[in-house]
Amino acid sequence: MPASLQNYLEEGRRAVMRPLAEASTLPPAFYTSPDVFAAEEAHVFRRNWVAVGRASEIPEAGNRFRIDVAGEPLLIVRGKEGAVRALSAVCRHRWMLLGTDGTGTISCPYHKWTYALDGSLMAAPLMEQAEGFDRAECALPSFACEVWNGFILVNLSGDAAPLAGQLQPLAAELEPWKMDEMEIVGRIEFDQAYNWKVLVDNFMEAYHHFAIHPETFEPNYPAAISYCEPSNGPYAALRMPHKDNELSHPLFKPLGGIPEFAQRGFSVFNIYPFMLIAVLADSVIWYRMEIAGIDRFKLTIYLLAHPASTDVPDAETLKHFLREATFAVHMEDLPACEGVQRGLQSGTARAGRLSHLEGAIHAHQTWLLGELGRA
Ligand code: FES
Ligand SMILES: [Fe+2]
Repeated sequence: MPASLQNYLEEGRRAVMRPLAEASTLPPAFYTSPDVFAAEEAHVFRRNWVAVGRASEIPEAGNRFRIDVAGEPLLIVRGKEGAVRALSAVCRHRWMLLGTDGTGTISCPYHKWTYALDGSLMAAPLMEQAEGFDRAECALPSFACEVWNGFILVNLSGDAAPLAGQLQPLAAELEPWKMDEMEIVGRIEFDQAYNWKVLVDNFMEAYHHFAIHPETFEPNYPAAISYCEPSNGPYAALRMPHKDNELSHPLFKPLGGIPEFAQRGFSVFNIYPFMLIAVLADSVIWYRMEIAGIDRFKLTIYLLAHPASTDVPDAETLKHFLREATFAVHMEDLPACEGVQRGLQSGTARAGRLSHLEGAIHAHQTWLLGELGRA
């Protein structure tokens, strides 16, 4: 471990590892130091489950998409027998990245080595004179991959415990939503230029509602009555009750069995390290982050709803409205996230004291220090 990382961890523990009422945030170096980011990639992103997509994006055998996790180029593929796999997207010949062209076999664009959907090398043109060349030794490596509630998650190190077991009782709470059957009803993409934790922090507190969302959120979901629920697993929950305990007005038709709380407010969750979902009575909004560097990531906001929920007149108009509203909310959050990123570079920046409304940030940062401490 670099000496600087050791110092940062000690400084971080002093700031964070105390009761919430006495705690501060992680110090700015956790958002700006290349040593910390390298440790996050190696010990947090690689060793935990990272959500990469929805199983419904690759419904047929041979369907696939590309994504990077912790700098590792992956090809997420639906295999012949229906299983979803996370294969390395790096050709075993001379490291060309494999693309998503075609739907059958996977063919490298450089010299056309061709792989089956399970990663085995099927053909390598003009290799007859390479002595001892064994196709069996040239399969694409594969990584641990799980589908949970319709989300595809990847664990690069292969030693994370199965996700479903780690997420009780969250998994039980989410059952009535039947997320595995949900469809993508909209998708919005942004290139973001700030540290990934700036978005996690923003997503997991409603303290800023009155300042940043005075017309969109605050009138219905006031900052002051939001609260964080402690969890025993690797996730945090933030509850946002509706003002005066009123019923919310969902766009679509909520499924039967949605609990009373969800009809009078909504919840957001962070499944660590950074799977951010907002669970509303009639839909789920997922902020997928593809982290490309210490201060940049691609954000894809997925809007998900069950087909039985969207079976309403004017569904297309409502989907459009959901997309516009979600976009507008993120456009409100964006200047705050960018402002924080700028402020973090200042010589005056230091760990900041937390409000009692920021328990989910405190829980996440406590968890993160634990993970980095394993380095
Ligand atoms: S690099 Fe893939 S076939 Fe040559
Ligand atoms: Fe916000």
